[in-house]
Formats: sequence, structure tokens, C-alpha cells
Amino acid sequence: MRAAVLGTGSSLPERVLTNTELERMVETSDEWIRTRTGIRTRRIAGPDEQNYQLATRAAQHALTAAGIAAQDLGLIIVATISPHMLMPSCACFVQTELGANNAFAFDLNAACSGFLYALDVARKYIAADPKMKVLVIGSETLSARVDWEDRNTCILFGDGAGACVLGSAEERGILDSCLLSDGSLWNLLYMDSPASKNPDLLDPESKGCVIQMSGRDVFKYAVRAMEDVVRQLLERQQLSISDISLIIPHQANIRILDKLADRLGAQANQVFCNVDKYGNTSAASIPIALDEAVRQGRLQRGDKLLLCAFGGGFTWGSMLLKW
Ligand code: UT7
Repeated sequence: MRAAVLGTGSSLPERVLTNTELERMVETSDEWIRTRTGIRTRRIAGPDEQNYQLATRAAQHALTAAGIAAQDLGLIIVATISPHMLMPSCACFVQTELGANNAFAFDLNAACSGFLYALDVARKYIAADPKMKVLVIGSETLSARVDWEDRNTCILFGDGAGACVLGSAEERGILDSCLLSDGSLWNLLYMDSPASKNPDLLDPESKGCVIQMSGRDVFKYAVRAMEDVVRQLLERQQLSISDISLIIPHQANIRILDKLADRLGAQANQVFCNVDKYGNTSAASIPIALDEAVRQGRLQRGDKLLLCAFGGGFTWGSMLLKW
């Protein structure tokens, strides 16, 4: 018995922000953004597209695809670093929007690796109770958390949500995972808390609750860490990269994806990429990509699917599934 994906869904805001529009906001160019990141457009949340609303819509699609009623869910986990409120959790809002009255719900913060971490938590709950159905969502409204005057970051991020319903299955599911963290490098990629109301805890240096990043360093660590963690998993499973039907990495930057594929010896058609359309949606990027891959017919029963991510913390990880 394994924890398996029973259905997927996603939800993207309607508003498309192009590189040409960004040229009018900061000192940048469509050419720079395309060649350095591979991003052409990203989605920006508008009214009625709060984090929990995108998350709920993605969840509804995933529940429909799985043929599961909201009342049958035992647990809801939302991986996010951009909830619209610190309390209650985004997951509690989703729970009530869905009418998932029998589920308990919480958010999980592992930045861009959040969805992988959340899948692994779900896997453990299902191992303990194989009848349990778990909804795992990655959802972000990072447009609310970027400094729109900082060209180093504002061109990269986008909003959206993706979801999976998991339950137990005999023949397929999550085979293995490898998750890692290193808090010592936190200052290369971070987002401060909202300003403290306790003057003793107020940081006068803080730039506020926006993403700050040392892009070049993050780039190097991301490629190396994802390569290592994928290799560890393949070795443990005695597989080679050619045994993998599809790799869905966190969608951060096309150059990171290309370098990773190159170092792993993967073919271009093995690696799923949609960063051109949505930019970096942090915890939402893998489930959005997974839902697109499923809807495009890129995954067949029995295929080996490899997920890998890297993000703030640093956090990183890989996961192998039999589809
Ligand atoms: O999800 C995980 C989180 N984040 C990431 O994965 C991001 C990882 N890093 C990256 O994707 C890349 O490092 C960036 C896309 C952020 C930057 O690309 P880069 O090739 O590493 O550029 P750089 O930071 O080395 O900057 C090169 C130049 C600099 O100018 P100087 O100092 O050479 O004169 C920057 O000031 O490009 C400049 N620059 C820009 N120019 C035009 C930085 N941002 C922009 C911009 N438009 N938006």
C-alpha cells in the first residue's frame, strides 16, 4: 500500500503581466528577462483571487478529478509562504470554503520546497491510516510579497495554486523521497515578518515583508543541491535517469532547469517546463506543472515521475512516484 495521487487541479489568476509591462515599471528589458530567466509572462492575483481562493479552486478541480467529496477528506495541508493572513491558516479557510467538515487543516512553510514537504507529510499520514484522503495544495500570491521597485526580484515571481488529492493504492504511488534543509544560509533568500508591534523586537534594518534574494548564489546552490538530492534518490532506488519518464522540477528559472538536466544527463523532453508562462510561483510551481502534465497526457500509468525542488531556508528535496 502506497500514498498515491488520485487527482490533480490548478488555478491561475486571470491577469497576465508581460515583460513589456515590466519594462515600464523598472529598469529592465524583455530580452534580459527572457534570456536570464526564460520567463515571458506571469499571473497576478486580483480581487477574489486571494491565496485561499486560488487554493480552493485548485482543490475543487483536484477533488473532481479524483472523484472524492470534500467531506471525505481527513487532512488538508497548504504549502505557502504568502498566506493572506498569518492566522488562521490558509488551510483553515480552504477547509471551510470546501465544506470539508471532517478534515483538520494546517499550513506548511518550506518555501519553494513546500509542496514536496507537504506531499511527504501526507504520505506518512496515509501510511498510518490507509483509508485517509489528504488534500495537498501549493498556493502563492507572491505579487503581494515582492518589492515592485526591485528589478532583481519583481520580474521573477507570479501567483497561482495547484492541488493533489492523495489516498492509498496497491500498485502505484510515492516510492521514495529525500528532503533536506540548511538554515545557515537563510540570508541568501528570505522574507521578513510584518513589522513587530513590540519595539524591542523591531528590526530597524528590515526592508519589510518582501522577498530578498542573492540571485547568483541561490542559482549556484539550487543547481548543485537538486542534482545531489536527485542522484541520492536514484542511487537508493537503483535507477538511472533514463528510467524516469518525466521530471518536474520547481520552476524557478529556465537556466536552472537546463543546467540541472545537463548535469543529470536528462533529455530535454524528460523535463517539464512552464516557467515561461507563470514565472516562479514558489510552493505552487510543482503542483501547477503536475496538473498541466496530467492534462496534456504526459503521464501514463506505471511511469516513473521525479519531482525536485529548492527554496528559501535553504530547503530542498526530491521525490519518486510510480504514476
Ligand atoms: O525559487 C528559488 C528562488 N530563486 C531562484 O531560484 C532565483 C535564482 N537566481 C536566478 O534566477 C538568477 O540569479 C537571476 C535571474 C535572479 C539573475 O540572473 P543572473 O544571471 O544571476 O544575473 P546577476 O544577478 O548576476 O546580474 C547581472 C546583471 C547585474 O548588473 P551588473 O552588476 O552586471 O551591472 C544586475 O544588476 O544584471 C542586472 N540585473 C538586471 N538587468 C536588467 C538584475 N536584474 C535585472 C533586470 N533587468 N530585471
